[in-house]
Amino acid sequence: MKIGVLKESSPEKRVALLPEACSVLSRLKAEMWIEKGAGINAFASDEEYLQAGAKVVSREEILRESDIITGINLPVDTELGQITSPKILIAVMNVLITPGLTEKLLKSGVTAFSLELIPRTTRGQAMDILSSMATVSGYKSVLEAALHLPRFFPMFMTAAGTIKPAKVLILGAGVAGLQAIATARKLGAMVEVFDVRSAVKDEVLSLGAKFVEVAGAREDAAAGGYAIEQTEEFRHKQAMLIHEHAAKSDAVICTAQIPGKKAPVLIRKETVEAMRPGSVVVDIAASSGGNCELTMNGEVVVHRQVSIIGKSDYPSDTSSDASKMFGNNLINLLKLLIGKEGELHLDFSDEIIKGTCAVHQGQIICERLKK
Ligand code: NAI
Repeated sequence: MKIGVLKESSPEKRVALLPEACSVLSRLKAEMWIEKGAGINAFASDEEYLQAGAKVVSREEILRESDIITGINLPVDTELGQITSPKILIAVMNVLITPGLTEKLLKSGVTAFSLELIPRTTRGQAMDILSSMATVSGYKSVLEAALHLPRFFPMFMTAAGTIKPAKVLILGAGVAGLQAIATARKLGAMVEVFDVRSAVKDEVLSLGAKFVEVAGAREDAAAGGYAIEQTEEFRHKQAMLIHEHAAKSDAVICTAQIPGKKAPVLIRKETVEAMRPGSVVVDIAASSGGNCELTMNGEVVVHRQVSIIGKSDYPSDTSSDASKMFGNNLINLLKLLIGKEGELHLDFSDEIIKGTCAVHQGQIICERLKK
């Protein structure tokens, strides 16, 4: 079994598998074929891959010869035609939200595993790239805020006087938000948190932050632990309270998302205008519209001396450890797909294989995608 690893296109800096993956794959009786230069932006050289036992080859060889092709992102459209059946393609494809992609995958004849579909169950945790990458984003967003802020995060008691700790407001306490709380607390900031799911309150408190409750949030047990859209009345009440707390904060970290929907707008222009000059908003929900009305995806907007940073590529910027986490998640999935003798073992009665496989032999497999 040959497992190919493609080099990502710029600006992506991560690589799907680092050299250390080679020994695990050899235990699965699989060979690792790596595209020349694939690891360079994640600080893994071709020599390290060779030393680990991988083969360094051309992109064409990977597309033509490997049984399983892996990547962080999907290869470009024109290359899909070069990948012929019965190959397996594994990457983050965002298949649920990319118009026309399912049809292209069906036409190409590949078996496609779209990694963001990994079911978020206890068993799925070891393969959950969404959680891994959210951890990276939550951590980096706080460092970004600390670097941009013209004030300190921790309290300092010095001969030059006492500096008060920064106040950080975190919107959304999912995986990224919880990591942001932990990081901001480690840096000594005082942290306040909003979320619409009451279940996160205890986790927020245990990290040493204050949970600001807004009465009347809608929750739905059928949403699988995710947030759902709120009523107009709740949104108004929440916006007023967020306005009050943001005006007193030095930094706001936005992480609130609703799966499959545009991110909720929680910070209006008036709220930014009420913040102290020099304050910072880091919006990691930027790629799905952002939690701040003024966010521009991929840009830093300065409005009345408040910086609004709309970045959502922190995992790529943290290419070494983000690749390590991504690779570990991917290896755990590969262990399910490869049998004891190194043969392909696609057991569609397994909820993880069924839930993550977008298409196989011209059929849509994942129920969420069928819907
Ligand atoms: P997410 O990225 O979808 O959303 C981030 C946070 O924003 C959530 O906590 C959500 O409640 C909050 N939010 C949404 N609308 C909001 C609003 N109007 N105001 C304030 N906050 C708002 O969430 P993520 O990080 O993907 O995790 C969501 C849940 O998924 C977890 O709590 C957990 O139940 C489940 N999960 C399960 C895993 C597993 O078992 N393998 C792994 C990771 C998450």
